[in-house]
Amino acid sequence: MKKCLLLGNGGREAVLAEQISKGYILYAIMPYANPSIVEYVEQSNGKYLIGDPFDKELVKKFIQEQNIEACVVSQDNLLQEGLIDLARELGLQTFGPTSKGAKIEWSKTYALEIVKKLEPEMIIKNEAITNQEQLDKVIEQYKDDSFVVKPEGLTGGKGVKVGGIHFKGKEEGYQYAKQCLEDADRVIIQDKVEGREFTVMALTDGENIVVTPVTFDYPYRFEEDKGPGTGGMGCLSFENGRLPFLEQEDIDKCANLIKKTIHELNRESLEFSGVIYGGFFKCKDGIKFIEFNARFGDPEAINVLNALETPFTEIFEHISNKTLSPENCKFNKNYTFTVYVVSPDYAIRSNKELCKFTLNKEAILKKGAKIYFASTKQIEGNLYTSVGNSRLFAIHTSGKTLEEAKQKAYNAMENNVDEVLNYRKDIGEIYEH
Ligand code: GLY
Repeated sequence: MKKCLLLGNGGREAVLAEQISKGYILYAIMPYANPSIVEYVEQSNGKYLIGDPFDKELVKKFIQEQNIEACVVSQDNLLQEGLIDLARELGLQTFGPTSKGAKIEWSKTYALEIVKKLEPEMIIKNEAITNQEQLDKVIEQYKDDSFVVKPEGLTGGKGVKVGGIHFKGKEEGYQYAKQCLEDADRVIIQDKVEGREFTVMALTDGENIVVTPVTFDYPYRFEEDKGPGTGGMGCLSFENGRLPFLEQEDIDKCANLIKKTIHELNRESLEFSGVIYGGFFKCKDGIKFIEFNARFGDPEAINVLNALETPFTEIFEHISNKTLSPENCKFNKNYTFTVYVVSPDYAIRSNKELCKFTLNKEAILKKGAKIYFASTKQIEGNLYTSVGNSRLFAIHTSGKTLEEAKQKAYNAMENNVDEVLNYRKDIGEIYEH
């Protein structure tokens, strides 16, 4: 059986570990022992190393010593740092773009330039700003805080700030933009638009794409979409692969842009394959582009990989052979539902203290839900601790109706998740903004 290395340690990597271990022997390098990744490595008789996945010498040595043949990377900064480039240099089969291909995510201005060229009507009016004078002029044109500040570079889904939501008043938005400009020599100011946000991800071999079920994310920290933005507090998808406010032609429009973008990237020899994530708005005047990511979303990956009918490792082979098609990459007809559990401080205040908590894993599994660990380490038995200040673990279910999947998840969590922890209890509501 093929030996496949996974780099990274989030909930997204936990579900990737599960999928990889079903068809390959799983190897992993992670900064701490993520309990899910450890479990799947052991199930497949693989091996893991606790170490820094950014350390290219360490990664190279592990690949060579263990005779690893394939590599999966879906974490933004690992992609930007060129870990896929390294795996390719060593002759491995890879899932994920090169650092240059991932530019579509780490340079917001680059992504906007491509979309402007390919589908200009999907662009929301914006200015890419490179100096203070230009920033002052652009902000002056706004009467109030109806603009969005988009920093250049990777921000883990938390850098984009929307007027009236993440900052109040023109001055606060201006100060944030100024800070972004100082940090990265570039910032984007974009009009704020009213619309409903959704994500279209597509698997790609660089030529063909297969669109996964469309997902609806819950980026806000608190119920009713209140509080600061996060990496995502929950996510769902529908059995028909759409969302109630979307028509098939809306999704086709996004898929068309994604396909043209992949071709554009590969025309420039940027070698994009793996998965592309498109963030979009459905507005009164059509579908608008928000951003591209060069990887699976987290938690979106948990939803779509659980909706796969075709084994992920078969898809990986089709990606490598450039034979990917909707006939050999199929999804089931279930609703999927994910809730992230976090520490009380998550996205609110930085906390140097670790958060210890108990989790009745067996009871949750018995109720038909799955657990994917993220920034969590096991101390012993049911006792766990946070690692850093990121999301702790995700609970995932699927069902024949949304209500069924939702009830299953929340019932499994009741009395089995430590009261010290937080999670949103309204995942499943589709709010209008
Ligand atoms: N959930 C949003 C992201 O992964 O970027």
